Amino acid sequence: MIFLFRKITISKLKYLTGKIDNKISLNNSMIINFISKKTVDINQKIILQICKLKNTHWKFGLNNQISWFKDNIKKNDIHNLCYIKNKLIGYTALRNGFYYNNKQKKKFLLFDTLIINPKYKKKHIGTLMMRFNNFIIVQNKKPSFLVCKKNLIKFYQLNNWKKIPKNKYTTLYKSFSSTGMIFKFEEKIKSKLLLNLNK
Ligand SMILES: CC(C)(COP(=O)(O)OP(=O)(O)OC[C@H]1O[C@@H](n2cnc3c(N)ncnc32)[C@H](O)[C@@H]1OP(=O)(O)O)[C@@H](O)C(=O)NCCC(=O)NCCS
Repeated sequence: MIFLFRKITISKLKYLTGKIDNKISLNNSMIINFISKKTVDINQKIILQICKLKNTHWKFGLNNQISWFKDNIKKNDIHNLCYIKNKLIGYTALRNGFYYNNKQKKKFLLFDTLIINPKYKKKHIGTLMMRFNNFIIVQNKKPSFLVCKKNLIKFYQLNNWKKIPKNKYTTLYKSFSSTGMIFKFEEKIKSKLLLNLNK
């Protein structure tokens, strides 16, 4: 398949940011469709698509992916979905959490997953997905936090995320290791942030 990527201009981005469900035409024949939904608004078919896509990279097995989803994803968590025709080719989960800064309790979104279908990698769809993710985060008016491996720091930095020093945050959530990064976190970090997820 010949894939002609057309970079999204600012005006196109403004269009993208105008609605939650968006269609971007990349060339004459291809439309990438970005959709953001809460867990309560997705059905079993979509959950299965998400689990299958996640399993292409984190190969824990489909059943394991499904039970992880059921055990950990809450009804108000956000699912950013990227489709070409009916095929889910990109996914991000934004999970609701809270943190304390200077003894004040505030909300944040844990940027949990970023995955592009292996066949569609290296075509800038991940970058496009990040623009959509960032937009959804801005729309939710909460800062966001992620952890990633060293090799992906640059990718996230190019997408307007910033590194947060290890001594600036702590968490009880077991998989918060690696490098922490933040987006739209505009307040001054007065004491070590205690980041956690809603039960
Ligand atoms: C990471 C991922 C989402 C990137 O998606 P993508 O559509 O391939 O990314 P893009 O084409 O938009 O890449 C843009 C730039 O980011 C960088 N980049 C992309 N993937 C990278 C990776 N795995 N490691 C390091 N840099 C990477 C490259 O510099 C690329 O620029 P290039 O044009 O010079 O190649 C995709 O590789 C993926 O799904 N990986 C498996 C899951 C994963 O690791 N997720 C992140 C969890 S923190």
